[in-house]
Amino acid sequence: MELLRTELDLGLAQSVRILQVSDCHLSACCEEDSEKAKEKSKKKTAAFLQESGGVTQEQRLKEALELAEDYDALVFTGDVADSPSQANLQLLQSMLEGRRYLYTFGNHDYYTYDSDSGKAEDRDRFLDDFLRFLPCDPSMDSMQVGGVDLVTLDDSLAQFSWLQVEFLKSEIGKGLPILLFVHLPLYSPTFVPKAYELWESSMCVGTPLEVLEAHGETDPKMPPEASTLAMLELIRTEPLVKAVFASHLHFADEAEVLGKPQFVTTPCYHNTIREIIVK
Ligand SMILES: [Fe+2]
Ligand SMILES: [Fe+2]
Repeated sequence: MELLRTELDLGLAQSVRILQVSDCHLSACCEEDSEKAKEKSKKKTAAFLQESGGVTQEQRLKEALELAEDYDALVFTGDVADSPSQANLQLLQSMLEGRRYLYTFGNHDYYTYDSDSGKAEDRDRFLDDFLRFLPCDPSMDSMQVGGVDLVTLDDSLAQFSWLQVEFLKSEIGKGLPILLFVHLPLYSPTFVPKAYELWESSMCVGTPLEVLEAHGETDPKMPPEASTLAMLELIRTEPLVKAVFASHLHFADEAEVLGKPQFVTTPCYHNTIREIIVK
């Protein structure tokens, strides 16, 4: 497994080692699924296998989990499941059992093959299925490790909520340096041209309206709402927020965003995960 390596110097007495795993895109199904879902699962599994050189997504996740044993914390940043089928949920439950980790949603974690969509109502509908086995809340959660606060925020629908703004404020109140983990990267002009080339969407939270319009963006959820703009302003102005870790683009990149370093991680099924060393 290839490790992308990020080192942050925050003046800690003892270094903290974090593993970020993202975009495993598990695409299993079972007999009970509809014919449409089974067909889609078959096609997508074949495509993922081709992209990964013949190694299954499950095998890649297994390898990542073995490596995670040597780290102080494990954070999943979305699209661990390509779809929330019962087969995928059971697989995840059995693979993650007994572990401590943070898990935030990606747009695919609640994307159903039957409807070919992953909307807000799908996210709400599948939240309970995930909460049955996750040790954390995929909407927003945190974990304090060795004097660092790891905070996850679900931005998989390209927005932050007012509840999440209040949550980050309460985390800031703990007084620890914060590393933010999200699925969609925060807007950076450096990511967006490549994102449009690959995905025909900006793929980034907080993309200014003029940038969306200039690219003829058709995804109606992308223009940032007031709560999203408030979150971005909070991130920009809060010195305790030290760095942002995202994924979703399926290519690795990094840039300074809102005055903070932001790192985008490639999919686990591409045989890549990110090691974060905080000193
Ligand atoms: Fe993904
Ligand atoms: Fe995604």
